[in-house]
Amino acid sequence: MEIHIFDDNAQLDTFAAQYFIDTVTRKPDAVLGLATGSTPIGIYGKLIKLSKEQNVSFRDVTTFNLDEYVGLTKDDEQSYAYYMNHHLFSHIDIPQQMTHLPNGRSADLEADCKAYDRMLEEQRIDVQLLGLGHNGHIGFNEPAPELSGGTHVVNLEEATREANARFFSSLDEVPKQAVTMGVGSILKARAIMLVVRGADKAAIVKRALTGPITTECPASLLQTHPRVIVLLDREAGRMM
Ligand code: GLP
Repeated sequence: MEIHIFDDNAQLDTFAAQYFIDTVTRKPDAVLGLATGSTPIGIYGKLIKLSKEQNVSFRDVTTFNLDEYVGLTKDDEQSYAYYMNHHLFSHIDIPQQMTHLPNGRSADLEADCKAYDRMLEEQRIDVQLLGLGHNGHIGFNEPAPELSGGTHVVNLEEATREANARFFSSLDEVPKQAVTMGVGSILKARAIMLVVRGADKAAIVKRALTGPITTECPASLLQTHPRVIVLLDREAGRMM
């Protein structure tokens, strides 16, 4: 596990964005695993800027997002589909049909989860970007006695809904369920980039990266992966 701690969030964003650009430069048809939440926003901003400056095209790139809320339409500003278009896809030359997110509005969520897994089996992710929840969740894989390997529907913990309520006008509006890629699919990525910011996550960073490997802290399973790059700001890394 390679851990980088940055004094400055802009430096972190540049490092992460350049890593993605280098991946696409080396492999123009790279498969990128993408994440949402507040953590990656600066990285996507930098990725747009650097890709223009360095003339990097995304026309042959495929993307898979980790998760999506159940029940929100793609046009809903709180949906992760909207987030991805807003923060990244509409600013780069990636064809829409190459971008994939779980479909939280499917009439048959189970069938859709299986279809997502089939796509992930056919196209291995070269680098998966990950944020970290306060309880150690990755994607929306919440702590539990057992974790699912593949894409599945999850009931969100109250604490997770509360943490994400800042993006909605009230807690009541935060969906109670989401569809998430499973930990098995996340761990199949060739490389994983975990990004964490803020003092409120320092304790969970330490637990995830140095504590016991347990499904009660899903991010701790990253310790079993051979190629994990961890990017922390000074606050998130202060217990490391
Ligand atoms: C959400 C997302 C996760 C994300 C986490 C942390 O629950 N499903 O993928 O990593 O929140 O979000 P933030 O970066 O906003 O702290």
